[in-house]
Amino acid sequence: MPRFSRPKGTQDILPEDQPYWAHLRAVVTQIAQSYGFERIDIPMFESTELFARGVGEGTDIVDKEMYSFKDKGDRDITLRPEFTAGVMRAYIENGLHVQPKPIRLYSIGPIFRYEEPQAGRYRQFNQFNAEIIGVDGALADLETMLLAWDIYAELKFQNLAFQLNSTGCPVCRPTYLAALQAYYKEYEDTICEDCRRRIVHNPLRVLDCKQHQCQPVIAAAPKITDYLCEGCAQHFAELRSYLDTLGKPYSLNHRLVRGLDYYTKTVFEVWAEGIGAQSAVCGGGRYDGLVELLDGPSTPAVGFAAGMERVVMVMKAQGITVPELPQPPVYLAYLGDASRQHAVRLLAELRAAGVGTQIAMQGSLRSQLRQADKRQAKVTVIIGEDELARGEVTLRDMASGEQTTVAAAGVVALLRDRLA
Ligand code: HAM
Repeated sequence: MPRFSRPKGTQDILPEDQPYWAHLRAVVTQIAQSYGFERIDIPMFESTELFARGVGEGTDIVDKEMYSFKDKGDRDITLRPEFTAGVMRAYIENGLHVQPKPIRLYSIGPIFRYEEPQAGRYRQFNQFNAEIIGVDGALADLETMLLAWDIYAELKFQNLAFQLNSTGCPVCRPTYLAALQAYYKEYEDTICEDCRRRIVHNPLRVLDCKQHQCQPVIAAAPKITDYLCEGCAQHFAELRSYLDTLGKPYSLNHRLVRGLDYYTKTVFEVWAEGIGAQSAVCGGGRYDGLVELLDGPSTPAVGFAAGMERVVMVMKAQGITVPELPQPPVYLAYLGDASRQHAVRLLAELRAAGVGTQIAMQGSLRSQLRQADKRQAKVTVIIGEDELARGEVTLRDMASGEQTTVAAAGVVALLRDRLA
């Protein structure tokens, strides 16, 4: 056993997995930018109060999962457990609200939650996150859902479907919560202990309880969509009409409530096959009250975030192939001290000419060639002492094994043109 191991719930992303990550980041960036989203980077830590207020006291994230500490200046700090509250803080603090709406922002980076690790659930993981700020119409909800959809489609995911629900608004939700509480009262002896607590402190969360004994109770529970006020019902109907127009499949899921307090109206997730229980590859929704809750101007907004580790797991489970990362095409091998000096000069000249080049660092000529093969070089330049004395070097085409002798003086131009 090594003396040190990585902290529980964290991962090393090794070079062999980097092509998946590079491809995923490239697809996210390309599609987000082509849809008019602009990138924003925010700190990895913020004041604890921001998340307590934004995500909500009483949520699992705030109550159980935050990495919170006092810094050396006695400030209460938390490693970000999500992007949205931080992005809204940045939106208010930097005066972005004076710009024309909507404002479309996306981010990519690490997130920290102290959860019980399992496949697809980590304590440090990466999200890509997108928000549309300043528009209350359902077209903005559609646009965030399309962004998620098109990213997965571009990645060639099979069997995509949205899970969709509405969580109402401060006007209609209280009536629904009262109905839910009244209904659950009748089943107090049947439901699990956590649900007995939830029904008092965070009633919506009873709907996503996984305990066996609660399932029949949840299945027959009142549905929020029967309690929506006119505004929320219209918004939901409009969003569904857009999805129908585009033929995007979705399941209405009255149990979808999401684990963050800020949602209003639309909530959605995308579930993917192939990664077991942790099947939500993204989740999001509308949060019309959050900016105001953080002392900004009243501002509607909608967005989503996707867990990139889970996306990579799906890519692998579904056998999706990704482009290999480019390797330097030229490898320099040599025999003897004088040749090594020449190789060092040639290394600098080739790189200055824009030709990606690696040099052998040690070993016999035979092992240098093995290295060149392993590094997937296209051409190996072999510099031997006798040839060098004649002003020549050998080029070995690594695919065919064919070798040619060329003038040492012209080799940079030759390789630059050949590999262009
Ligand atoms: P969330 O559902 O908490 O939403 O997280 C979004 C996604 O992050 C999940 O669907 C999942 O793919 C991934 N995820 C969550 N926890 C973990 C974990 N422990 N390990 C690996 N992946 C995980 C939010 O974070 C909201 N801020 C999304 C949002 C943006 N809503 C509006 N705008």
